[in-house]
Amino acid sequence: MDAQTLMALRDPAGLPFFPEVFMGLGVLTFALHIFAVQLMLGASGLAVYGAFTPNPHGRRLGLAMLDVAKVSVSVAIVIGVAPLLFVQVIYDPFWYTANVLSARWVMAFILILIVAYLAMYLFYFRNTQGDAQAPRRSAWAIVVSVVLLLVVGSIMHVLTREMLFPEDWKGWYAPDGVIDASGDNYKAFAPFRFAFFIAMALPVTGAWLIAMRHYFAVRPNRYPATYLDFAGRLGRTMMLGGTALVILLGIGWMATLPEKVAGFGASVWVWPPLLGLLLAGGMALKPPARDSAGSYLGLVVLLVAGLLVAISREALRYAILVGEHGYQVFDYPLNMDWYSTVLFFATFAIVGGLTLTYLIAVVWNAGRTEGVYTPGPVVDRLGTLSIGAILVWILQFFAIGFYVWMQ
Ligand code: HEM
Repeated sequence: MDAQTLMALRDPAGLPFFPEVFMGLGVLTFALHIFAVQLMLGASGLAVYGAFTPNPHGRRLGLAMLDVAKVSVSVAIVIGVAPLLFVQVIYDPFWYTANVLSARWVMAFILILIVAYLAMYLFYFRNTQGDAQAPRRSAWAIVVSVVLLLVVGSIMHVLTREMLFPEDWKGWYAPDGVIDASGDNYKAFAPFRFAFFIAMALPVTGAWLIAMRHYFAVRPNRYPATYLDFAGRLGRTMMLGGTALVILLGIGWMATLPEKVAGFGASVWVWPPLLGLLLAGGMALKPPARDSAGSYLGLVVLLVAGLLVAISREALRYAILVGEHGYQVFDYPLNMDWYSTVLFFATFAIVGGLTLTYLIAVVWNAGRTEGVYTPGPVVDRLGTLSIGAILVWILQFFAIGFYVWMQ
């Protein structure tokens, strides 16, 4: 497909702000999304392990990680919306074509996600009563949940890949010249690339376990040292073996790139993520002591390594769509909209910043307190400010709406 046709498919309304900024935010929010996805998969994987292992520590850990999985599903979904907005804004000709070609899968995405989440809750409700170390009931439900979550992820993967092959769209839409408007397409699945992102769940969740060992060490009555050390050891193995596996899968991904960008695997873009992953694996060789605050460093390093992966992944997309197909993403017509841009950043920084800081402060302190946690004056004030910021946001929303309506 020639560049002019691709460009003609762009939104005639143009962009409300510079494409470079949308691209940057897309990369950043994708890194956060995939980090939450990886934690979700790793935590629910450990819940599956806990459902079948005879080891009482393993059973207990599985149930604890089920709580992490429940929360990270919702975090992954909420943060997933952000890269969705950015990718469809700057790469709309590609993203929407992929969505139309695979329309049935796009619609099934939500339904499958709902069933996956319900299955997770079914397992949770069947097992929250009684002894945390007792054998699990309805173990099949958590297995079904993990499998369906992977199906959901594979749909996102296929959409992301289909958009990279404009030269194949016609063949997929009209195989042998006969139009197939069913939207059944599930094309361009790349096993190494998909497995790479999924396998990152191992080191990410491993680092989480090492952090958890330090976090709960202040509550020895509830979390005995033997249990926390079991979690720490498992975390270390997952981090070490996981980074090795991820690097191997990354090599497989680069070795099986489409011919049109086969050289990308030997470019400078692969080095920063590789170094990030090696650093994470190296950290697992000598894990911090249970009482060392350095226990959280592994998570930070993996978050940064994930961001480096996201940057290189974007460079790969750029090399294909701009380099090979001539799509001028940075020449996207601009129709500057300062109000929505300022509102976006202010919402992100002020409303999001205050509310998230408040919630994280409460959750962090509550988890490390024996008995009932009562927030101090600073956290309390933060809560009041968060509610105030949300109220001001709602007021400005209606005020601007009425103002525009009156014009
Ligand atoms: C809960 C299960 C989910 C899993 C396992 C999952 C997994 C993934 C994976 C593996 C990718 C990378 C695909 C690739 O580059 O090959 C991805 C990308 C993406 N995901 Fe998710 N995802 C999930 C849910 C969601 C949800 C609910 C949303 C949106 C609301 C979402 C939005 C996105 C977007 C927009 C991308 C592509 C971003 C881009 O190309 O810039 N995901 N996801």
